[in-house]
Amino acid sequence: MNLLKLFACLSFTTMLLACGGADRGSVDLSKNNSSSSSSSSSSASSSSSSSSSSSSSSGTSIRLHTQADFPIGVAVTADNSSNSFLNSNQKQAVIGQQFSQITAGNIMKMSYLHPAENTYSWSQADTMIAWADSNGIEVHGHTLIWHSDYQVPDWMKSYTGDWQAMLDKHVSDIVAHFGADVVSWDVVNEAFEGSGYRNSIFYQQLGAAYIENAFVAARAADADVDLYYNDYSLVDNGAKFGHVLDMAEDFQGRGVPLSGIGFQMHIQRDSPSISNIRAAFKAVADLGLKVKITELDIPLNNPYVSDDSFPQYSVFSAEAAEVQKQRYKAVVQAYLDEVPAAQRGGITVWGLVDSESWLLSFFDVRNGVDDWPLLFSGPSGGPYTAKPALEGFEEALRGE
Ligand code: XIL
Repeated sequence: MNLLKLFACLSFTTMLLACGGADRGSVDLSKNNSSSSSSSSSSASSSSSSSSSSSSSSGTSIRLHTQADFPIGVAVTADNSSNSFLNSNQKQAVIGQQFSQITAGNIMKMSYLHPAENTYSWSQADTMIAWADSNGIEVHGHTLIWHSDYQVPDWMKSYTGDWQAMLDKHVSDIVAHFGADVVSWDVVNEAFEGSGYRNSIFYQQLGAAYIENAFVAARAADADVDLYYNDYSLVDNGAKFGHVLDMAEDFQGRGVPLSGIGFQMHIQRDSPSISNIRAAFKAVADLGLKVKITELDIPLNNPYVSDDSFPQYSVFSAEAAEVQKQRYKAVVQAYLDEVPAAQRGGITVWGLVDSESWLLSFFDVRNGVDDWPLLFSGPSGGPYTAKPALEGFEEALRGE
């Protein structure tokens, strides 16, 4: 088995987001002590009692983002569901304490932002961004073009006009709308497989040219925003990584505006090896490109083993927590060691709290097994508790 199987399940996952209870939190320790909440959202929590106390609702004095001069990010749920961080003072507090960047886990994907040819749905993303702005947090945009079936809008699937003009407009309208409120974009997500270009609807319509067209359109719409190519299994799939590096070098040679490579990094606790992770970061850094870890999570149970040992952990024991702590630490150390400071696009974890991880949705692979892949534990509605993994992350940032 491999990660391809895991990703084949993406179409199910919208229906399977874990649901949590309503939040009852009350503190806001957001980093700039802003006394105002997002003004553009009626659902955003009002945060009028900020505090600079070193205590926190997550039981840690760690402030991860203060240890890095590059973005430390987290994927957030910002839709109308009960999991939305905009409905949760506790989530907002933890995000403000630990992170300097957010990525929308879903609401800035194609079908959410562009549901009909002449209709864009900006309001949820605008509300999220207003919160980020008022809390001194950057936004990474994810993602302008992605093959995943549920994310290609129906109108696009049946489009019979000029595909290049249509996709160029899709990209430039979205990039122009957000402008400087988004500091970087995953312009194209998951365009390769080991065998070469993924046979997506975009590839079928335009061949490989759709990729560079998207970068050119994004740059034309915003001269400053960082533009990433983003993909999974870049470390452990040599053929696929080779295709991505070839594309990057080709783009560089022809002046196609590529700022960096996003490594999703939905990895396992025991694979890929740290030496392979280091080599992959270095290969991109050596091209002079930025390296961004865009979707880091590290579950403890690895279903992709050849024996029948899965699940290797049935409880989140102290030993499991330590294994995970050291793994997070090693990944962050590898990033710091291999990526020069000026090329660090940042490190983003794919979710805030274990109980809401997207990995829980992969019932067919993980069979309902808990994975504890993130930096905080606790029920969906809180309270949230910092895990040893957060300490490992911080220790690496501090050079310990
Ligand atoms: C996932 C979200 O986290 C889920 O909520 C959704 O149901 C499916 O997509 N690679 C990506 C992300 O680039 O967009 C995916 O996010 C995870 C895999």
